[in-house]
Amino acid sequence: MFLVVGATGELGGRIVRLLRADGHDVRCLVRASSDDGGLREVGATVVRGDLTDPPSLRVACEGVDTVIATAAAIARILAGARTPTIREIDEIGMLALVDSAESAGVQRFVYISGPDLDASLGPMDRAKLAVEKRLGTSRMRTVIIRSDAFQEIHLAPVGRFDMAAGKVSVIGHGDNPRRWIATDDVAALMAAVAVEPDPPAMLTIGGPEAMTKKEAIALAEQLTQRKMKVQRMPRPVARLAIRVLARRYDALATAFGAGLHQDTVEATWDDGPLRERGITPRPASDFIREQARDLV
Ligand SMILES: NC(=O)c1ccc[n+]([C@@H]2O[C@H](COP(=O)([O-])OP(=O)(O)OC[C@H]3O[C@@H](n4cnc5c(N)ncnc54)[C@H](OP(=O)(O)O)[C@@H]3O)[C@@H](O)[C@H]2O)c1
Repeated sequence: MFLVVGATGELGGRIVRLLRADGHDVRCLVRASSDDGGLREVGATVVRGDLTDPPSLRVACEGVDTVIATAAAIARILAGARTPTIREIDEIGMLALVDSAESAGVQRFVYISGPDLDASLGPMDRAKLAVEKRLGTSRMRTVIIRSDAFQEIHLAPVGRFDMAAGKVSVIGHGDNPRRWIATDDVAALMAAVAVEPDPPAMLTIGGPEAMTKKEAIALAEQLTQRKMKVQRMPRPVARLAIRVLARRYDALATAFGAGLHQDTVEATWDDGPLRERGITPRPASDFIREQARDLV
């Protein structure tokens, strides 16, 4: 039995569908307020619970072999729910889930993280560092997937790369190549390592194409035949904003931290782990082309 925590989200939902398509039994921990219709439709079972409610985590983990954890607070906070905080969900809640899984005798714990985490970049990196550290001491077989930035977030309107409005925000210089990755490809990898007999403890992954923000903007401009309005935030301003906002508006601090990371940390990883598993990852330029096509 698999337990997916974060199943109503973009990444977790895809993982559920992949595991169900392969005939696996999947249980999903879903908050009382969230719609579980899509999960039930694909034959997953649903248990109600919350990362802020440790007893619900213990119940959810009973009889489970593998936990796949993708839950995160940032998107819901940016959408207007100011609580619970990133620390309460991504750190304290996720640590409680690891404890519950271990106590319940779960064999494997698959966790989504990021590459080159840096506590100074805000609450989400701090949370992921704490969870990775805890998993490092676990009796369970742990598989940590450190993924580069998702195309659907960081090359899309939600990440202020808005081709329809012709507007984009850039933190820093915009000339650091990153390997923007498709959420589908991250999901395929996580579903694969959840079932393979001898998975690695850690994989760092990115998409097939290294591309800077400037190159992404140039491609968008070429495809839409119009200039994008670029709003720039210098690196020192982003650093200051992260410090000031960390407590007052943790999700925005985290979003700035992600932008700064993308501008300053070289992508030394690639799509090798995906291809080794038969996954053909989507290049970032294909994603930008798809978005441009949707505009006409
Ligand atoms: N975006 C990137 O570039 C990137 C890069 C590397 C790693 N990641 C990681 O990938 C994951 C993102 O996954 P995603 O795209 O699926 O995010 P998402 O669409 O925002 O989904 C978040 C999920 O977390 C659940 N959740 C939130 N609060 C919860 C709580 N208190 N208890 C239980 N579940 C809760 C949500 O449930 P509700 O529906 O009830 O809100 C939802 O299922 C995150 O861990 C993120 O850090 C992202």
